[in-house]
Amino acid sequence: MNKRLGILTLILLAILTALAGYILFRNDWLNSGKKPTPEPTPEVTPEVTPTPESTPTPEPTIDPETDDRFFNTDSLLVVANKKHKLPDGYEPADLTTPNVEMRYNTWTMRAEASAALEQMFNAAAQEDIHLVMGSGYRSEAFQKVLYDNYVSRDGVEKADTYSSRPGYSDHQTGLATDLCGQDSNYDLTQKFEETAEGQWLRVHAHEYGFIMRYPKDKDEITGYKYEPWHFRYVGVETATAIYNVDEFCSFEEYFHISGGGYAD
Ligand code: DAL
Ligand code: ZN
Repeated sequence: MNKRLGILTLILLAILTALAGYILFRNDWLNSGKKPTPEPTPEVTPEVTPTPESTPTPEPTIDPETDDRFFNTDSLLVVANKKHKLPDGYEPADLTTPNVEMRYNTWTMRAEASAALEQMFNAAAQEDIHLVMGSGYRSEAFQKVLYDNYVSRDGVEKADTYSSRPGYSDHQTGLATDLCGQDSNYDLTQKFEETAEGQWLRVHAHEYGFIMRYPKDKDEITGYKYEPWHFRYVGVETATAIYNVDEFCSFEEYFHISGGGYAD
C-alpha cells in the first residue's frame, strides 16, 4: 500500500514538473520554428550635404581704376562719369536708330543697346506700358550746348548736379537712353518714378540689360541727382547682378569705381 502511494506521488511530481516546465518555456518552444523577428531597420540618416557657405565676393584682382573693361570704349561696361572722361571726340562706330517711338530728336544708340531697347519697348507694350525714347547718344559737341545752357540758367554748381560736362556724359557712350511716357507728359523729371512707365522700368529694365544709372540717394557716389528716367545698357547678366544687389545699387558701387566729383 505504502509502496503504491509512493509510486503515485512520484508520478504526480513528474507530471507537475513537466507541466511547470511547459508553462515556463512554452514561448520558446512555440517560437522555436519561426523566423526570428528582424531587428528593426535603423532609419537611414541621409548624409547631410553641408550647405555651401555663401560664396564670398572675390577680392578684385584687377584695379577697377585701370581695368580695361571700364576704359575700353568698345566694352559694354565703359565708364563715363565725373572721374572718368571719354577720349576726346569719342563717337561709337555702330550707332543705329532703334525702331521705337521718340520725342525731341531722332536718337541713336550702339547696335546692341538699340536692339535691346526695341525688345524692352515691345515687352512693355504687351503689358500696356507705352514707353517713349527722350534721348540717346549725344555727341561731345551736343553735350556742350546742353551743359552751357544749364550753366547759364542755374550756374555751374547746380548744373553739375544734373548735367555732365562735355566728354563726361554717359550719353556719349551710345549706351544710355532717357525714357519717358504720357503719364509724366514726356518730361524727364523725378515724377517719372511714380508713373506706370517708370515703375515698370524699375522692375523690368534689367531683364533687357539696362540699369538705372543714377539711382535714388546715390548723388555722392554717382555724382548726380536721382534720374529715374536714365537707363544704361550693360548687358543682361551685369544688369541682373546689379539689380539683384538692390534696385538702387549704382554701377559705381557694384564695381567699386569712383565717380562722385570732378577732379578740378
Ligand atoms: N544727365 C546726365 C548726368 C548727363 O548729362 O549725362
Ligand atoms: Zn540721361
